[in-house]
Amino acid sequence: MTAKFLMCPPDYYNNIDYEINPWMKKGTGCDNKVSIDKWNELKNIIISLGGEVVTMQAQPGQPDIVFTANAALIYKDTAVISRFRPPERQPEEKFYAEWLEKQGFNLEYLPENMHFEGAGDALFSGETLYSGYITRTDITAHTYIAYLLNLKIISLELVDKRFYHLDTCFCPLSEGYLIYYPNAFDEYANKIIEKDFPEEKRIIATEQEALGFCCNAVNIDRSVILNNTTDRLKNELKQKGFDTYEVDLTEFMKAGGSAKCLTLRLD
Ligand code: ARG
Repeated sequence: MTAKFLMCPPDYYNNIDYEINPWMKKGTGCDNKVSIDKWNELKNIIISLGGEVVTMQAQPGQPDIVFTANAALIYKDTAVISRFRPPERQPEEKFYAEWLEKQGFNLEYLPENMHFEGAGDALFSGETLYSGYITRTDITAHTYIAYLLNLKIISLELVDKRFYHLDTCFCPLSEGYLIYYPNAFDEYANKIIEKDFPEEKRIIATEQEALGFCCNAVNIDRSVILNNTTDRLKNELKQKGFDTYEVDLTEFMKAGGSAKCLTLRLD
């Protein structure tokens, strides 16, 4: 099956003008032209690796809409639409919902005031859904989704504000592999991860690598697309049978996002 991704071009992605995570500093300059070039580079790598990319329209005044990972949680034909915690991102919800509905997804909504930030905080490894909570997503949303979709959900507590979405510190890869940054999780979450992923399948990122968003990678089969990273990590991935493709996503890191955040897997 072709890996299919939703992306949204950074047409209105400009200087940072609000702060909703520790990466964002009001007034930081973002070069719109560089962002567009790098976004296209990412898109083209995905396509060159056999992926399909579909796009939605950008929206003026909603710079973060480029981070389509936060649109929804996709499971089979269902899209559980996000309910953003930061008011700045709440207007994006209806654009994502409209687009997903047009594509034929059944939309599901969480009760009001139950925050949930889509695939940014909910990632599958095989049939198990791992979901991060506290910073952006409420743990009550996990229970709600587990019943709604009849899924096994494992809740992982995020304890470092710099890694505010699960996809900034936890990246399941094909065949049960995982790249992750242990210090972003509490002790209990670490125990669960160690129990669920055998040692030889766990690829541990250093703090420096994690701060370079190495866990925010797009995975297609045995390929991993990510922001520029270290030789150490690339070698470890190579040894485990994964090829790496780097894109300089500095402009997007200014808003606290990177490769994986810029995509939403639809299949
Ligand atoms: N500025 C955005 C926010 O704070 C970045 C989102 C990055 N997305 C992600 N899936 N980690 O919401």
